[in-house]
Amino acid sequence: MRFTTAATVLALLSASGSALTAPPWPDVPGFARPDRSFVLLGDSTTKCDGGWGPGFCSSTLNITTITCINLAVSGGTTGWFFESGLFKTSLAVIGAEASSGHRPVVTIQYGHNDQKFAPPESMGRNLTTIVKSVRAVGGEPVLLTSLTRRNFKSDGTIDDALADWAAETIKVAKANKVALVDLHAASIAYTEAIGPDASHRLN
Ligand SMILES: *[C@@H]1O[C@H](CO)[C@@H](O)[C@H](O)[C@H]1NC(C)=O
Ligand SMILES: *[C@@H]1O[C@H](CO)[C@@H](O)[C@H](O)[C@H]1NC(C)=O
Repeated sequence: MRFTTAATVLALLSASGSALTAPPWPDVPGFARPDRSFVLLGDSTTKCDGGWGPGFCSSTLNITTITCINLAVSGGTTGWFFESGLFKTSLAVIGAEASSGHRPVVTIQYGHNDQKFAPPESMGRNLTTIVKSVRAVGGEPVLLTSLTRRNFKSDGTIDDALADWAAETIKVAKANKVALVDLHAASIAYTEAIGPDASHRLN
């Protein structure tokens, strides 16, 4: 599965009505086809208006033809995902999509809340479990590194506290040969390019 690249998803995100300018990414044909569906897992940076999920589902994809199910939850951690039972429910949803003839692409993005109480390796182990389980029910996992926070240092660069969690996500992606979107790096580059004022207007 190589149809989803960082470039593709960022190109799609840029078309979603967010402020990202159109990047010169190659067009990857057939990304959003009716025989695919999308299931989004993660925290508020995927779920809420400030996150990328709603724009992705409602604007980037043609939701009259493409199923896009946003199961991200504000405050979500990988551990909470397991303990709340949402993991089990999500696997059932993904399995149902797969057996209905869709090829469910499952985006997985954590870190913002995981980092508040556990080292990166804890999230990494859980991501590995999620990736394997998603594949076992017929889904195609895509790992995303955490969308950056918009905390700027006085020199105009991002004060980044998520680097180790992004690195852990990349490690899990490589170890399990999972498609990766390095949203952390891309969003830092973007927010630094547009600066603090424009970044905060994204609220
Ligand atoms: C979405 O798909 C429907 C059905 O194929 C089509 O009629 C409509 O024009 C599409 N909308 C966009 C924005 O592409
Ligand atoms: C990962 O999952 C385990 C088992 O549910 C849990 O104990 C741990 O806190 C989780 N880690 C994170 C960062 O959520």
